[in-house]
Amino acid sequence: MVNAYGVLKFLHVLSVIAWVGGVTGLAVVTWRLRRERNREILAVLLRQATSYGQTIAGPASVIVLLSGVAMVGMASIGFRTFWVVWGFAGILLHILIGAVFIRRRTIELARLASTNGGDDQSLLEAARKLWIVQLIYVAIMASVFWAMVVKPTM
Ligand code: HEM
Repeated sequence: MVNAYGVLKFLHVLSVIAWVGGVTGLAVVTWRLRRERNREILAVLLRQATSYGQTIAGPASVIVLLSGVAMVGMASIGFRTFWVVWGFAGILLHILIGAVFIRRRTIELARLASTNGGDDQSLLEAARKLWIVQLIYVAIMASVFWAMVVKPTM
């Protein structure tokens, strides 16, 4: 039977897919694209990835937070429940790592990709730095996934 909690959970998980799934896919394609050594295509991809972050992933993460809070309230799960706190920590780390470190490294890589005649070594190094922070980000989100499915309590 369809109920409000079910609709919220559907919105929650669908938003997680658009956000974390989208960001993961773009990170892998960006990392692989560095091998092509085609700066023009890399610059276009980074511009599109930034736009995806601002127009889809960002708003989707807000829907995850709001639908999560609504579900916790509706089902009296308790906002101090361990796996819910893990969800909140995931959202905070998403903002910190996403809005600061990933954004800064994406801007640096896009700058190098838009520089004609720049040396490939700096570009590959900037791509590696972005990839590392994206891997940490995705690992943290995967841990929240685990917490949400397994629901560990203290
Ligand atoms: C990075 C952030 C988050 C991710 C990736 C995430 C992911 C998920 C996933 C995959 C599920 C489905 C689990 C299942 O079917 O068993 C889920 C369920 C849920 N999430 Fe989140 N979530 C996040 C943040 C939050 C936050 C911040 C809250 C609360 C404020 C929250 C509350 C819930 C609740 C109440 C459920 C439903 C549990 C159930 O009925 O089985 N989530 N979440």
